[in-house]
Amino acid sequence: MSGQRLWDDVDGYIVDTFGLDDDVLQAALEDSAAAGLPAINVAPNQGALLMVLTQAIGARSVLEIGTLGGYSTIWLARGLPAGGRLISLELESAYAEVARRNIARAGLEAEVDVRVGPAIDTLSTLEPPFDLVFIDADKDGYPAYLEAVLDLVRPGSLIVADNVVREGDVVDATSDDPRVQGVRRYNELVAAHPRLRATAVQTVGTKGHDGFALALVT
Ligand code: SAH
Ligand code: DHB
Ligand code: MG
Repeated sequence: MSGQRLWDDVDGYIVDTFGLDDDVLQAALEDSAAAGLPAINVAPNQGALLMVLTQAIGARSVLEIGTLGGYSTIWLARGLPAGGRLISLELESAYAEVARRNIARAGLEAEVDVRVGPAIDTLSTLEPPFDLVFIDADKDGYPAYLEAVLDLVRPGSLIVADNVVREGDVVDATSDDPRVQGVRRYNELVAAHPRLRATAVQTVGTKGHDGFALALVT
């Protein structure tokens, strides 16, 4: 076995071994699919990574850009302590409605606030500080999101961005895909920023070949 089939198998093994699925997560994906949302949520082990990172840095306030049906939101919120807060930004009001129901079923209604509208507009209304930021909305918007997020973080905050490898397309400097150019620019910005210590990690699994960029605010 090789390639995608092997990656799917290993992701399944990881989900089983580490116990990364439950009724609430299943129902969130089922209701998202039933409502016609695209199945582009993070994989379970990626969601669990977001939870572990949130808890590891002791984050009390989390900002997510790109809610979809709230699958990654549930994982992030599970890493919060009692009294923690999460704000998630979503362009599509119909997606946000699905997400709110999924989040309520997960018992996270009190902690999570889903805000509808173009993220770049909502970002300018938010009160800092956020301890962890997960960027996962439109990829051409990542450079502008980074700029806005830098006004909302403090030293010790962690900024995580999804989809920064894109099946390896990220290495193509001449790509005419605005999503590729968006993540390329994002990676360059976090790499060069004097306030950030950053890296990117490639991932393979059910979501193919992709990656996360991780940037610590110093
Ligand atoms: N984080 C989710 C997946 C997000 S998919 C998960 O892993 O479960 C990307 C989401 O970003 C989509 O729901 C899309 O509607 C939203 N989006 C796209 N452009 C946006 C914008 N300009 N502002 C806010 N959200 C946007
Ligand atoms: C896709 C995957 C993502 O993780 C995302 O945030 C947006 C789109 C995709 O596979 O198309
Ligand atoms: Mg993504």
